[in-house]
Amino acid sequence: MVEVRRPDPEAIARAAALLRSGRLVAFPTETVYGLGADATNDAAVAALFRAKRRPAHNPLIVHLAEAAAAESFASFDERARRLVARFWPGPLTLVLPQRPGSPISRLATAGLDTVAVRVPAHPVALALLRAVARPIVAPSANRSGRVSPTRAQDVVAELGEAVALVLDGGPCAIGVESTVVDLSRPEEARILRPGGVTRDELEAILGPLAEPSRAEAEAPRAPGMLASHYAPRLPVRLDARSVEPDEALLAFGTNEPPGALWTFNLSPSGDLFEAARNLYRALRAADESGARAIAVVPIPKEGIGEAICDRLARAAAPRPDRSSAPEGI
Ligand code: TXA
Ligand code: MG
Repeated sequence: MVEVRRPDPEAIARAAALLRSGRLVAFPTETVYGLGADATNDAAVAALFRAKRRPAHNPLIVHLAEAAAAESFASFDERARRLVARFWPGPLTLVLPQRPGSPISRLATAGLDTVAVRVPAHPVALALLRAVARPIVAPSANRSGRVSPTRAQDVVAELGEAVALVLDGGPCAIGVESTVVDLSRPEEARILRPGGVTRDELEAILGPLAEPSRAEAEAPRAPGMLASHYAPRLPVRLDARSVEPDEALLAFGTNEPPGALWTFNLSPSGDLFEAARNLYRALRAADESGARAIAVVPIPKEGIGEAICDRLARAAAPRPDRSSAPEGI
């Protein structure tokens, strides 16, 4: 059985020792649960890719307890410093040029000359990162392509024995992943993945952000971005106006068409932050509802709704044929 522990100081010290010895530890962040490994240890990072069945070309985010700890291997320009001052600790990941001689495993960055860094806001994550005192890679603690975990029991269901220890910090407050912003080119800043920090909040600091070109939307720069991802087991149907009797329904606000086998309202009051917090738990519960498919009503794309719609679009995207790829993609 996987060890799941309340994050008291003793459990955090044990988690830190496990990470330093190259083991994998899952921990809560304010966005989703992460699966941590020592970012400077090739064997630990390789074990992390194996545990998630993650394709080797999809790079990881390096987590730190404070921005200063990233200065030695990532190059922060003035835009990065302004974003850090406003949003760290918090749900923002910056893709920055990597400095020569960086101690980060080449596996973690998938051989790119950039590195993604983030200082999470969750007190348990920060306590753990301080105790380890090394950069920690932490992708969402799910099998690659599946729904991200927002509770400790989701991590156990996803990864089981591959994890040495799960720190149980209760449900995640934000519920969707960090916003990934690419600052690796001096002339432009762009959002690679919408998330917990909204476009409006970023544009208030950086000015207007570049929109992805059509070619980029089709061959995205954050590897693995547009393909099927965040996917429950059941097929997902978006923008549902009505439901079939054998469908599970994700409703929002007063938009709750009748007749579904099972219904989960993401936010009866129409609050997009509440909907984000409930999204992954709702997709997991829908999978267990006995329904044939999941229908989702339209969700407003403003604010954090952009991240919700992004995840739902990927959850509904055509799935790879997993039967011919037993290691997943
Ligand atoms: O909220 C989060 O960010 C969570 C928690 C655990 O911190 N972590 C997370 O990690 O979502 P992951 O591995 O599931 O997603 C990382 C994303 C991927 O889309 C990856 O392609 C992108 O960040 N990424 C990482 N390094 C990159 C780089 N150098 N250039 C472009 N994209 C990068
Ligand atoms: Mg993920």
